[in-house]
Amino acid sequence: MAEELFAAAKAAMERAYSPYSRFPVGSAIRTEAGAVHAGCNIENASYPEGWCAETTALGHMIMAGGGRVSEIAVVAEKMPRIMPCGGCRQRLSEFVTADAKLHLCDINGVLETVPFASIFPRAFDMEPGA
Ligand code: THU
Repeated sequence: MAEELFAAAKAAMERAYSPYSRFPVGSAIRTEAGAVHAGCNIENASYPEGWCAETTALGHMIMAGGGRVSEIAVVAEKMPRIMPCGGCRQRLSEFVTADAKLHLCDINGVLETVPFASIFPRAFDMEPGA
């Protein structure tokens, strides 16, 4: 199952639009309902206007009807074990399940799986006192 998510992330990476950084990234997320949504990074000549692969994947999930994210895979051909950036951790945290898993990959597959909660503890979530 993790390898299937990795394959979707890698296929998405092939679609990356990253002419400025030359750092293609792909991500795939699985919802509790079993749907898989993938995305690539999309850069822009006005550099700060570009966005990450994880954000594209979340957009696909929302447009397909939404859901809760139970699994995330991220892959970058130039960086084994790439980690979601801070902004994407916050965006993902909006939709993850309490036990969501993050798969850290290289271009050949999943290297390590960690709880999403371990990479984004004490998230800002608008729940007073939570
Ligand atoms: N990037 C992602 O797509 N996901 C990450 O988790 C980290 C960084 C992208 C943003 C930019 O297009 C390129 O990688 C270099 O930072």
